[in-house]
Amino acid sequence: MTSSAFDFTHCPDRTLQPGLKWGKYAGRDILPLWVADMDFAAAPEITAALAARAAHPVYGYAHPWPSLVEATVEGVFAHHRWRIDPDWLVWLPGVVPGFNLACQMAGGMGDEVLFVTPTYPPIFAAPPNQQRRAVGVPMLREEDRWALDRAALEAAITPASRMLLLCNPHNPTGRVFTAEELRWLGDFCQRHDLLVCSDEIHCGLVLDDERTPHIPIATLSPELARRTITLMAPSKTWNIAGLQCAFAIIPDAPLRQRFRQSMAGLVEAPNVLGMVAAEAAWRHGTPWLAALKAQLRANLLRVAEAVAQMPGCAMATPEATFLAWIDCRNSGLVNPALFFEDAGVGLSDGRDFGAPGFVRLNFACAPAVLQEALTRMTQAMRA
Ligand SMILES: Cc1ncc(COP(=O)(O)O)c(C=O)c1O
Repeated sequence: MTSSAFDFTHCPDRTLQPGLKWGKYAGRDILPLWVADMDFAAAPEITAALAARAAHPVYGYAHPWPSLVEATVEGVFAHHRWRIDPDWLVWLPGVVPGFNLACQMAGGMGDEVLFVTPTYPPIFAAPPNQQRRAVGVPMLREEDRWALDRAALEAAITPASRMLLLCNPHNPTGRVFTAEELRWLGDFCQRHDLLVCSDEIHCGLVLDDERTPHIPIATLSPELARRTITLMAPSKTWNIAGLQCAFAIIPDAPLRQRFRQSMAGLVEAPNVLGMVAAEAAWRHGTPWLAALKAQLRANLLRVAEAVAQMPGCAMATPEATFLAWIDCRNSGLVNPALFFEDAGVGLSDGRDFGAPGFVRLNFACAPAVLQEALTRMTQAMRA
């Protein structure tokens, strides 16, 4: 039981509003533990800021305003120990558009973008969206964690390699790459003259900041910062993804200029309400976030215990995110996502992440819902 000033045990009924996560199984007895948003109510300070803005009944154009920029600069420093210059910020309606823009800047048609697999599905799609080749390099499963396969990354380099599209913390494995791993990746990108696009959308959701702190790759050296586009957003951390507000941090002025040029006429500034929510999150959202993480750690324990009871299933403990990446390859299940859906639990299918035989379970939900889902899964496995 987690004691806090915030209620993470009772969640608002999401079937009452249109939405992706609960809408998918409307009218069916399937608990949705798939797409990556949380069932928890947002921090009360965010809701209050949105209500106050909505009460002013003019919703005209708005560009990021000084107090939002200031709150973001301070927030990035407070949460990630990175002192950024306000000029480095480029505002975006989402992180996915951000890494698609980065792919557009990675050389020319047919050039290659590297990333590690399994991966968040839109990362597979981004290079071909921009007429680049997607080069996925499988990670290695070590004792209780997923690791970079350095030899395979080196072997994947060709004369057409132009960019590393990093996802850190990593979706779906939940890895938070260490300073040593990031230094190796940085050196790798420098040796092969690769642009770095680092999707750090999950950086606010490190479950143990002491043990596995998030390190933005651009902070490792000024040389690395010069070739890096970092993408962040308050959306995952504070459960405001539908409000569509994100930003790129690009220290190098010419690189930033090129990024802005590829946006021109196509990608707008974020939604005004998204920016209101972002400012409130940075300024007032830290106590809520601390309480959220306590709930996520408690939920993760339940998941780990249950998975250990499922014959042939295994999982490495995620260090960040609210996502459990479950390996069902030894379970005998031909299609685990379909099997669990038939048992009343909607999970993300590993095939979409380049990993058949896996499922991804979103544990950011009320403990009672999670328990019921885990019970359904365990019983179905034993039947
Ligand atoms: C790694 C990663 N990047 C980006 C996104 C989505 O970004 P956005 O909604 O800001 O485009 C997600 C959502 O799950 C994600 O997991």
